[in-house]
Amino acid sequence: MRTQVAIIGAGPAGLFLSLLLDRLGIASVIVELHTRDYIENRVRAGLLEYHTVQLMQELGVGGRVALEGLEHGGIELRFNGRGRRIDFRDLAAGKCVTIYAQHEVIKDLAAARLATGKPILFEARNAQLHAIDAERPYVTFHHNGVDERLDCDFIAGCDGFHGISRASVPAGVLTVYERDYPFGWLGILAQAPPASQELIYVHHHRGFALLSMRSPEISRLYLQCAPDEDLSLWPDDRIWSELHKRFATDDGWKLTEGPITQKAVTGMRSFVVEPMQAGRLFLAGDAAHIVPPTGAKGLNLAVADVRVLAAALGHFYSSGSPALLAQYSATCLRRVWKVQRFSWWMTQLLHRFPDNNPFDQRRQLADLDYLTGSRAASQSLAENYVGLPFR
Ligand code: APR
Ligand code: PHB
Repeated sequence: MRTQVAIIGAGPAGLFLSLLLDRLGIASVIVELHTRDYIENRVRAGLLEYHTVQLMQELGVGGRVALEGLEHGGIELRFNGRGRRIDFRDLAAGKCVTIYAQHEVIKDLAAARLATGKPILFEARNAQLHAIDAERPYVTFHHNGVDERLDCDFIAGCDGFHGISRASVPAGVLTVYERDYPFGWLGILAQAPPASQELIYVHHHRGFALLSMRSPEISRLYLQCAPDEDLSLWPDDRIWSELHKRFATDDGWKLTEGPITQKAVTGMRSFVVEPMQAGRLFLAGDAAHIVPPTGAKGLNLAVADVRVLAAALGHFYSSGSPALLAQYSATCLRRVWKVQRFSWWMTQLLHRFPDNNPFDQRRQLADLDYLTGSRAASQSLAENYVGLPFR
């Protein structure tokens, strides 16, 4: 097999990249470890930045998100038993975010990709990258009982944090910057109408909590827990009881309950590799960086990377110049670090740290008071939350 760009992974990064390349007339093959059913049903976050939705419209995959996505013009920050609203439309030039589950995005992108007749090779086992420093790199893998070799000009490593792309870069080339957090999130899906039309981020002395949603009938709720929390210690009634405590307000606001249909614990880390390129291998999305979920930037940052990569590849194939490809890593990293900063900042602002230092608790509350009382501070939150502009 031969193609121009071999894409490893059919997550948001790989699928968006394939559609962007297709629009530029650049051929690609996607090599994916799992089945279509698996990638289309994996429960992840569900918040799309303004620009992510716009890109879906431009790529012709915005039909369902326009109908079923829930536009949100603000969020609530709840602390000291009171809620305060941050109004995005007012503070971020009319922009909003959209609630739409990541696996629904995956369904839309995969359907559009397959409709072009270009391949996604599902259940491709043991993918390995070769000759990434040469003019003609290639990928080998096992697919449908056959050992395959895919020759290409470039490889896009879009295979997530646990993929093989980053691990294929020779030792000494990449520098890792990382930070672990001493907590995780216990996330549930519940068949319960969301108790609020907008997301609620709670600072509470028992720990952080978040109310989100998937539809007018389905709530998505998270509560801060230990990073290695044992789910068997969390029967449904304990989850509801803890959520009620953290969401409680002075004026008797009530969380709506309903049957819990899904439960999982997510760890939290901040992680970046530099550079995001080695020879003809370009890393994008979670393969290159991880953000903690506070602010839901993971998918959106993956999309930002592949926009840069597609433009650079387009420039290369139309002009023969590798100039933009050479700048790929530096261009992406400017945004990556700003989004890292924002995700870290939201995380440290809202969570309870195990040392429970009273100074830090007071400082967090002062930060929240300032944030919700100052237009300048609210505006900074709003412009980061809806997504920084692309320059
Ligand atoms: N070979 C082929 N495919 C692989 C391999 C491999 N060795 N390892 C992983 N993959 C596939 C996974 O099955 C998955 O479909 O790569 C894809 C990576 O997708 P994501 O993990 O979703 O990563 P990315 O596309 O960068 O999206 C980042 O999505 O999941 C969220 O938290 C994440 O929101 C962030 C965003
Ligand atoms: C989600 O709906 O899954 C979600 C929303 C906002 C976040 C994180 C996750 O900050």
